[in-house]
Amino acid sequence: MISKTTIDNVFETSRVEEVIGDFVQLKKSGSNLKGLSPFSDERTPSFMVSPVKQIWKDFSSGKGGNVIAFLMEHEHFTYPEAIKYLAKKYGIEVEETEQTDEQKQQADEKESMYLVSEYASKYFQKILHKTDSGNAIGLSYFKERGFTAETIKKFDLGYCLDEWDAFTKEALGSGYKLDYLEKTGLTIVKGEKQFDRFKGRVMFPIHSMSGRVLGFGGRILTNGKKAAKYLNSPESEIYHKSKVLYGIYHAKQAIAKEDNCYLVEGYTDVIQFNQTGIENVVSSSGTALTSEQIRLINRLTKNITVLFDGDAAGTRASLRGIDLILEQGMNVRVCTFPEGEDPDSFAKKYSEEELKVFLLENANDFITYKASLLVKEAKNDPVKKADVIRDMVSSISKIPDNIQQEIYIQECARIMDISEDVLFTTLAQLNSRDAKGKPSGKERPKKAMDVVREETSSMKVEVDQLYELEKTIIRILLLYGTTEEEFEDLILKENLNGELSLEPIKQKQKVFEKIYLDLQEDEIAFANLNFRIIYQTLIDRLNEDPKFNIEALINEIDPAQASKITDILMDSEKYELHDWERMDIFVKHKNQLEVSEINQVILDLRLQLIKQKIEDLNENAREGVSHQTNVLEEIMDYNHLKVLITRKSNILRFR
Ligand code: CTP
Ligand code: MN
Repeated sequence: MISKTTIDNVFETSRVEEVIGDFVQLKKSGSNLKGLSPFSDERTPSFMVSPVKQIWKDFSSGKGGNVIAFLMEHEHFTYPEAIKYLAKKYGIEVEETEQTDEQKQQADEKESMYLVSEYASKYFQKILHKTDSGNAIGLSYFKERGFTAETIKKFDLGYCLDEWDAFTKEALGSGYKLDYLEKTGLTIVKGEKQFDRFKGRVMFPIHSMSGRVLGFGGRILTNGKKAAKYLNSPESEIYHKSKVLYGIYHAKQAIAKEDNCYLVEGYTDVIQFNQTGIENVVSSSGTALTSEQIRLINRLTKNITVLFDGDAAGTRASLRGIDLILEQGMNVRVCTFPEGEDPDSFAKKYSEEELKVFLLENANDFITYKASLLVKEAKNDPVKKADVIRDMVSSISKIPDNIQQEIYIQECARIMDISEDVLFTTLAQLNSRDAKGKPSGKERPKKAMDVVREETSSMKVEVDQLYELEKTIIRILLLYGTTEEEFEDLILKENLNGELSLEPIKQKQKVFEKIYLDLQEDEIAFANLNFRIIYQTLIDRLNEDPKFNIEALINEIDPAQASKITDILMDSEKYELHDWERMDIFVKHKNQLEVSEINQVILDLRLQLIKQKIEDLNENAREGVSHQTNVLEEIMDYNHLKVLITRKSNILRFR
């Protein structure tokens, strides 16, 4: 058990923005920080951290909480693990009351697997550095490859003795359970017998983003044997190879700082790059790149440079990887090494400066890269050329941003010397084929006989609009209810000739009074039940108490409505997430009240409510629910009102 003092100490010291900053690239946004949600695949930031309140909120998944909640969600830590992690980060000593055997047993399975992996990593390092055969075989191998002592330490490289069960025996002797040794794949159990999986191999521990050991890669030392050159930990509860990137722990800071990530194929590529001085590098470790791996990078930067071995370039798997990166809205550059070289061998030959120059000069935009493949492959073969062009457009179709798509199409047309029109047509075909795959509803082709469904869909849009308008009114009431403003209104006046016209008048009013008086004119209630109740409650409260306080209200009212109110308030924070300013779209700051906006919202809402009312009345009339003439009169009244409000709205809009 961790002592209370330690826990208090950890809470006092930890800064939520620093802790999350290790996992998510955060940018300042007003008083908050924003970033891409680490819990979902997304291209626009919906993740917010409040340094002031020391909390975070992920608008795309709805998750949120304090620093501990983040670590539990993101790293799947248990509470004590999260505390220990923070203690380590901030150099706080963990006071622990001794664990009993029973408590040890209770530690959950995953934790046990982490522990045994951590132990194994330490063990393999010990063997490498502290035993004769470790020195003679393992260490000399690494040195031969050109790794310095510092590098070997940095990546916790190790060695597994060339004996059947040396590791397993020692682990069991140290109290680790065979069950977990087997589940992590470190030990292979065959009946009564146990074998070390990595017997006689040099060891590369694979770390999570936060530095925990998840699994291992083990390289054989002898060439030409039938055994695989690299052996990796099997999939387990803690090691999912599609979700890890070798080197990410050592690279994350540099990736965010350089705003670029080099993606290589092998363990040794990562290590050699680091040794040469380039730290923003990770490896998919020989497996085909997955979206989950890309997402890990996407949290740190938008830019990936894929580095291909001299012989691996242009293969199907590698091209698929590029499309996956494009799909996530990231920028891809591709750099190919000379024939027979991989990043490891190349970096070994050159200095940091030379390597950087090479990367700078040889990293091409993916479109240029694909084009260069074409030149090689399909020089004089028009059929092949057509294939490759289609292939290029297909990659472009993966890019979520339309403007970027267009730029690439132009680029492609230029490089391939083919008309943009043809490429755009191809792109449109591909886009529509994609759209068919996932029904979006919006672009559903219209059918002549499809009248009924057409009507429901347009009604649906109106219902959504209504919902948004009602929500906006509630938001305005919550944020500015008691503010006094000068409102301009248009009232119906009769002139000397008896003609009616709309005349502007100015009037000082409290915002809630204005809203209430305007809305009650039509004698219609909010459509959404929750909003209706909240609206009534708010109006009552605002009337009673000019110094009305939202927090008090939230604590008093029904939880269903309280949660709706919280949502609405949080929603207004969400506006900060968008880079409106950068896109040259003017958005009023949430603390800034625009009087004309209130007028407009009220009129829009009235209009929508009236439309809804008329629809309902028509429905009643058709079904004969109420007396025909009464209904028709009512419909006419509302229609008059509709016309009047539309006119007001138009006049106000264009003033
Ligand atoms: N790999 C693997 N299993 C194999 C071969 C390769 O898991 N049998 C993975 C390893 O992660 C390896 C990467 O694929 O690092 C790239 O393979 P390769 O280019 O063959 O190896 P190198 O990294 O160049 O390794 P080395 O230089 O040690 O030969
Ligand atoms: Mn190599």
